[in-house]
Amino acid sequence: MFNTSEGEITLINEETDVSFPTVTGTEGDIGIDISKLRTEHHRITLDYGFANTAGCRSSITYVNGDTGELRYRGYGIEDLAAKATFPEVAYLLINGELPTKVELEDYEAELRRHTLLNEEMKRMFDAFPRGAHPMGILSAATAAMSTFYERYHNPRDEASVKESTIRLMAKLPTVAAFAYKKSIGQPYMYPRNELDYSSNFLQMMFGLPVEPYEIDPVVARALDVLLILHADHEQNCSTATVRLVGSSEANLFASVAGGMNALWGPLHGGANSAVIAMLTHIDEDGGDVDKYIGKAKDKDDPFRLMGFGHRVYKNFDPRATILKDYAADVLDRLGVHDPLLDIALKLEEHALTDDYFVERKLYPNVDFYSGMIFRSLGFPVRMFTVLFAIGRLPGWMAQWKEMIEDPDTRIGRPRQVYAGYTERVFPSVDER
Ligand code: SDX
Repeated sequence: MFNTSEGEITLINEETDVSFPTVTGTEGDIGIDISKLRTEHHRITLDYGFANTAGCRSSITYVNGDTGELRYRGYGIEDLAAKATFPEVAYLLINGELPTKVELEDYEAELRRHTLLNEEMKRMFDAFPRGAHPMGILSAATAAMSTFYERYHNPRDEASVKESTIRLMAKLPTVAAFAYKKSIGQPYMYPRNELDYSSNFLQMMFGLPVEPYEIDPVVARALDVLLILHADHEQNCSTATVRLVGSSEANLFASVAGGMNALWGPLHGGANSAVIAMLTHIDEDGGDVDKYIGKAKDKDDPFRLMGFGHRVYKNFDPRATILKDYAADVLDRLGVHDPLLDIALKLEEHALTDDYFVERKLYPNVDFYSGMIFRSLGFPVRMFTVLFAIGRLPGWMAQWKEMIEDPDTRIGRPRQVYAGYTERVFPSVDER
């Protein structure tokens, strides 16, 4: 299952030398196995945000933050974005290998057969207020979907897990499009199964039952590339959440719904919407990027350069590099001029020559350019994180499946360093 080798490291502490086994990954990354630290040495580690802590061995995605490399199952993101389709990449992430022509045709046929929602689920959309944020609807609908498929809940049953992954992959675009149509008071568009994955989603989003909807191949391919670029990213906040929820043997629908809620935050998947809000504000304020770079550097100013910085990448996020060129190409091919792209390019150019950003190795991340492309494809800003979730879904499911199948998996239960009161005597109410 995992191709790692064992080794040993010795830590010197105040009393004795303490040795721990080490685990070396296939790319040479070394993990210190501290699973006996508490039982044998009565110590725990403290690592806010788990920035230095691996919670698992994984063979799905490799990210090298220093060199700016990203590979899904060993294939470089540049190749996958240029040559693959999103269903092909989803199959690769979930099954571990690229599909043959027949396997891909069968997979896409299975997805097409499950794009419809149970008609009883439609009533759920009516329960939300008109202006409901689509991420709230998406995660609620995903958890609700579990109530229609209880027969597939067992995470230990391979066939049930496969059925769950197919239904989630097939139905999430339908849920997302229904949430959007609800928010603008338009009738739901049903899936059309003669279309490919991205084209089907576009027609459900932007089609109307009163006229034919013409798929623009430039738009459909751009969406496919964007979904590929978002498909997985090792143990990020939302994926770690999916693994943690799933470690209690909660079903896949419930685990993915948990990941969606983690993704919603502006420091994570909500950043793509926050970038557009930031660029719009800078544009409306006269486009003075140096003023906002100064605000981002000012510790007393809460302003952050959204779309910049990354926990892992201390070099260019390769997805941002691809998206930067792609944004210009798609806007040009669609004949769209977006002044926000000019602001973004200027902001990047100025930030990357500023010591504050250079010293902290803050580069544009995947969210810095993705929003501009989503916008040029006609998506409203409030749908951007939903698009991130549709892209990340196969990664979440692949990681959840790997966690369930890993014999070393235990229910996630971090420890703490207690910093509260020592024992106190209970005072009567008159004594307080
Ligand atoms: C995603 O993990 C993943 O893989 C995520 C993701 C994925 O595919 O799943 O790649 C997707 O979530 C991308 C990140 C999207 N978020 C944003 O763009 C929000 C803006 N960025 C930051 O808030 C921040 O950079 C994080 C959240 C991305 C990373 O936070 P860290 O690793 O905890 O870093 P930090 O907050 O400790 O920052 C280190 C220093 C601090 O300054 P000092 O205390 O050293 O003086 O850098 C500064 C921070 O103040 N800093 C920024 C900054 N990001 C970090 N200063 C200004 N603007 C920024 N954007």
